[in-house]
This record gives sequence, C-alpha cells and structure tokens, in this order.
Amino acid sequence: MKDIALHILDIIQNSIVAKATLIEISIDEDFVNDSILVTIKDNGCGMSKKMIEKVSDPYTTSRTTRKVGLGIPLLKQNADRTGGYLSIKSELEIGTTLIASFKPSNIDCLPMGDIAGVISLTVSGNPSIDFIYNHKINGNLYTFSTIEVKKVLGDVSIGDPSISVYLKEMIQTNLEEIQIDSIGYKT
Ligand SMILES: Nc1ncnc2c1ncn2[C@@H]1O[C@H](COP(=O)(O)OP(=O)(O)OP(=O)(O)O)[C@@H](O)[C@H]1O
Ligand SMILES: [Mg+2]
Repeated sequence: MKDIALHILDIIQNSIVAKATLIEISIDEDFVNDSILVTIKDNGCGMSKKMIEKVSDPYTTSRTTRKVGLGIPLLKQNADRTGGYLSIKSELEIGTTLIASFKPSNIDCLPMGDIAGVISLTVSGNPSIDFIYNHKINGNLYTFSTIEVKKVLGDVSIGDPSISVYLKEMIQTNLEEIQIDSIGYKT
C-alpha cells in the first residue's frame, strides 16, 4: 500500500464485508507530538477472541477464495516500522475498532494520500451505510457525517455520481482550511 488513505480504504472494506451499518473513521494528525492516529470503528459482526489474536498474522483470513488475508498485516507492518502500532478491539455482534498509530517524523512513514477521494468514493459507493469522518490536523477538527448530508440531500441519493464529485471537493476544501489554520499557510 503506498499511502495511509489506501490502507483506510482497505480496512473500511473489512467493515463493509462485516455488514456494518455505521462506520466511523477518525484521523488525528498531531505533528507537534509526532503522532498520526487512524481509528476505524464499525458496528459489524465483530471477531472472536481467537480471531483477533490471529488477525495480524498474514496466514489468517475468513476468505474462501484465497488463503491469506493481507489487509491488516500490511497495515500493522507499515505502522510498526515507523515506531507506531496497530491495535484491534472487537466483540462478536457488537463491532470492531481498529487503531493504527504512525510516527510521521520517521522516514518510513507513508504519506496521507488522497483521503478526500477515498472518503467520497466509499460514501457514494455504499449509500445504505452511514459514515462519520473526523479529521484533525494539529488540533483543528473537520467532521463529515453522511447522516447530516442525507438529510440535506432529501430525495437525491448520496450514491449519485454528481454528488461524489461535489463531496470530494467539499472534503478537500475543508481539509485545506484546517491545515492552513494549523500552520498559518497553504502547503
Ligand atoms: N471490521 C471487521 N469485522 C469483522 N471481522 C473482521 C474485520 N476486519 C477484519 N476481520 C476479519 O479478519 C480477517 C483478516 O482481515 P484482513 O483485512 O487482514 O484480510 P482479508 O480482508 O481477509 O483479505 P484482504 O484484506 O487481503 O483482501 C478477515 O477475513 C475477517 O475475517
Ligand atoms: Mg481486508
């Protein structure tokens, strides 16, 4: 995976496969404390204790088409190598929370990538699932919730292709604003 956003896209797919109806993605980029925390929380089917223990081992998967599941092990590897970590909390029939921690000063830390694209694409591709996306940059928070957006859209589907383009621009603009607020200028 070449950036954090693509890892997030991949981890969200796990939540979708687990039949989540609400997925919360939180990103906290704190460059003052050299920390990027990515949290993905879902209300899907959850994992057994045994599964959680095995899940960061690349030979574990509940897929039947292929023997190895690589999504979580690759994310763990990319977090660990920066001096960060990966943690999973999960309860059957309640849901799963995955946290990946990175140290951005480490030369091996992946760039954030196109997070606005990943969120807008995921949201519009899964109109029946609700998403809450919180993104903090040095303490400045932007929140996006499909629950709110769906209210505003009324009869128009959030899955409409024209909405996806609009959402991407809206998220991008808001992220640029919290970035400017946090450093005082545009990068
Ligand atoms: N959010 C989740 N809820 C329930 N089970 C999960 C969740 N995330 C992962 N799992 C379980 O952990 C296994 C391993 O996940 P992982 O993403 O590493 O591999 P995969 O999804 O099976 O395959 P890949 O990601 O390589 O396509 C999954 O097959 C699934 O059984
Ligand atoms: Mg996966």
